[in-house]
Amino acid sequence: MTILVTGAAGFIGSNFVLDWLKTSSETVINLDKLTYAGNRHNLVTIQDDPRHTLVQGDIGDQTLVPQLLATHRPRAILNFAAESHVDRSIHGPGEFIQTNIVGTFHLLEAARDYWMQLEDAEKANFRFLHVSTDEVYGTLTASDAPFTEQNRYEPNSPYSSSKAASDHLVRAWHHTYGLPVLTTNCSNNYGPYHFPEKLIPLTITNALAGKPVPIYGDGLQVRDWLYVGDHCSGIRRVLEAGTIGETYNIGGWNEQTNISIVQKICALLDERRPRADGTSYATQITHVKDRPGHDRRYAIDARKIEQQLGWRPAETFETGIRKTVDWYLENAEWVTQVQSGAYRDWVNKQYGETV
Ligand code: NAD
Ligand code: DAU
Repeated sequence: MTILVTGAAGFIGSNFVLDWLKTSSETVINLDKLTYAGNRHNLVTIQDDPRHTLVQGDIGDQTLVPQLLATHRPRAILNFAAESHVDRSIHGPGEFIQTNIVGTFHLLEAARDYWMQLEDAEKANFRFLHVSTDEVYGTLTASDAPFTEQNRYEPNSPYSSSKAASDHLVRAWHHTYGLPVLTTNCSNNYGPYHFPEKLIPLTITNALAGKPVPIYGDGLQVRDWLYVGDHCSGIRRVLEAGTIGETYNIGGWNEQTNISIVQKICALLDERRPRADGTSYATQITHVKDRPGHDRRYAIDARKIEQQLGWRPAETFETGIRKTVDWYLENAEWVTQVQSGAYRDWVNKQYGETV
C-alpha cells in the first residue's frame, strides 16, 4: 500500500513522514516543489529508505500528478503542501493564491479522476485528507469560546483566506462529486525542522546568535501551541477513523501569549547554554512594529477529535518545548544550512535594521 503526501519536505510534512515510517510498512510518495520552505535535509535520515520517494514537483502540475497517481496507485492523498507564512503572504500574496487555491484545485481534480477509475473496494477505501489551519476561523477576543468545527469562516490574512478557500474547494469536491475527503484544522505547531521565520524557531536561533528577538506590538497576542508530533498523530488518527466529509479541529488546549512563549524559551536557553556574560537571553527581546491585521487570539476546542476518535496529545508544552530547544541546540548545522542568502533577504525585508 502507498500514500501520496504533498509538501513533505516542509516542517510538518517531514515530521509526518518520519513518524509514519517508524510505524508503517506502507510506502510514501512525497511530492514537494522544494520552495524556500522545502528542504531535502529534513529527510536525510530516510534518504536510502526504499519506502520513501521524494518527487520534486508542483501540486498544480496537471501532467505530473495524474502520472504519479496512475503509477503508484495510492490509497490516500494527504495534502500538506502550501505557502504557510502569514508575514510572507502580506508582502506577496500571489504565491499563496497560486499554491493554496489553484494548486489545491488541480490536485482535487487529479484525485477525482483517479478515484473515479478505481475498483469498488479501492474506491470505498480511498481518502483525500486536507491539512488546514485554525486561522480560517479568524480571531477571538479574550472572552470568546475556543474555535469549534461549527465556527464561521472569517479569515483575515491573505494566507488564512487562501487556506479557507482551499477548505471550501475540498468540501465542495465531496458534496458535488462524492470525493471521500477529510479536513483537519490545527493550531500553531512547534518542534524539530521548523523553519526559523516562525516565532519559536526564530526566537531560539536569534537568541543563540546574539541577535534581537523580535516581538510584534505588545506581545500579548495569544496562540494555542501543539507539538508537531501530536499534530501528526492526530492526522494519522483522522485518516484511519475520521468520518468522510467531516472536519476535525486539532489542538492541545495550550493558549499562551507570545511574550510568555519567548520568555520561557529564553529561560530554557539560560539553563541549557548560558550566555557568556551571565545575563539572560531575555535581554535580547525587542518590541518591533506589529503585523498588519494581526489576529489577537486563536484557541482550539479539540473535543470532537478527542471524544469521537480518542485522540490525545502526548506532549505538554513543557516537555515539547524542551525537546524542541534541545533539537535546535543539537542541530546547529541544519540551522546554518537553512539560513541561506534567501533567508537573509527575507529577514532584511521583514525586520529591516532592527533584527
Ligand atoms: P512549510 O512552509 O514548512 O512547508 C510547506 C511545504 O510545501 C514545503 O516543503 C514546500 O516546498 C511545499 N510546497 C509549497 N508549494 C508547493 C507546491 N505548489 N507544490 C508542492 N509542494 C509545495 O509549512 P508547514 O508549517 O509544514 O505547514 C504544512 C501544512 O500545515 C500547510 O498546509 C499549513 O497551512 C498547515 N498548518 C500549519 C501549521 C503550523 O503551525 N505550521 C498549523 C496548522 C496547519
Ligand atoms: O495557527 C496556525 C498557524 O500558525 C499556521 O496555519 C501557520 O502556517 C503558521 O505559520 C502559524 O501562524 P502564526 O502567524 O500564528 O505563526 P508565527 O510563528 O508567524 O507567529 C506566531 C505569533 O508570534 C504571531 O502572533 C506573530 C508573532 N510573531 C511572529 C514573528 C515571526 C512575533 O511577535 N515576532 C515575530 O518575529
